[in-house]
Amino acid sequence: MSATPARRLRVAVSRTGLPGAGVERLAERFQVADWTPARPPAPDELARLVDGCDGLLVLGSDPVDAALLDAAGPGLRVVALASMGYDGVDVAAAARRGVVVTHTPDVLADTTADVAMALILMARRRLPASMDALRHGEWGAFRMDAFLGLDVHGATLGLIGYGRIARAVARRAAGFGMRIQHHHPRRRQDDELSRWVPFDELLRTSDVVSVHTPLTAETEGLIGAAELALMSPTATLVNTGRGGVVDEKALLVALRRGELHSAGLDVMTGEPRTDPSDPLLAEPRLVVLPHVGSATEATRSAMVDLAARNVEAVLDGRPALTPVPG
Ligand code: DGY
Repeated sequence: MSATPARRLRVAVSRTGLPGAGVERLAERFQVADWTPARPPAPDELARLVDGCDGLLVLGSDPVDAALLDAAGPGLRVVALASMGYDGVDVAAAARRGVVVTHTPDVLADTTADVAMALILMARRRLPASMDALRHGEWGAFRMDAFLGLDVHGATLGLIGYGRIARAVARRAAGFGMRIQHHHPRRRQDDELSRWVPFDELLRTSDVVSVHTPLTAETEGLIGAAELALMSPTATLVNTGRGGVVDEKALLVALRRGELHSAGLDVMTGEPRTDPSDPLLAEPRLVVLPHVGSATEATRSAMVDLAARNVEAVLDGRPALTPVPG
């Protein structure tokens, strides 16, 4: 009598052609169903893809809610995000179903910190505005008062949140001659790079405020009109975390009224923003990027690789390598 062959475990992947070799490696061991169209799957399409799967590998922009988990069925054991942020996942609903959720901290910290530093330099020195002037033939004669920005060296950087990315920004900022302070609501500790300060003090005394806190119920709208009003009119706000942490309308008002010198955003609410007449794009003192913090070949490959290794670990019955904090 021949034994029934073991069912090959199934893994759904929410995109095709992800960078690196992680998905290829999964396909050597599991039955991989990937989403092949060039556009991202709509929720009902992702639900059909995940039906009957044991594992799911998704991007940070793919919402994973209770309905999707139910669509997968009781066999689902792991949701592996190729993303550090996990605000799009209903972690409590996953826990209730015994599904492990993993993310990709560490591997993108330095790459994202590079973009935070770039935004600080671009916004404070008003580099995009000067490039625009050049492109439009408005350079003219050399003038002592043209394209003036504010110095980055000697400025005080205030980091909101003090995790891996914030600390990577602190290391870079130290090299640029900035003084560094941070606020973390629970870990009230100084270290060799930065001193802990209360939240309001950070807003009042920083020349550059850089946001590095995850989006949660507590941090949504954390930087609104009242917080912007505490900042100096010569200050710069930078956000490479999640758009929802900053009240964009209040930010635009503050910039237009000259209550804030400048801002740099790599993240926005309602991403992707595709309207070319979006008011965020028209504000000359606001530098906006389309969520490119982790966008290098090496880092994106490392993110997918780590997500794939998390899938393998859980499906092999081992602990996840990088589960989301519980
Ligand atoms: C992350 O990993 O959270 C980045 O924002 C890219 O999604």
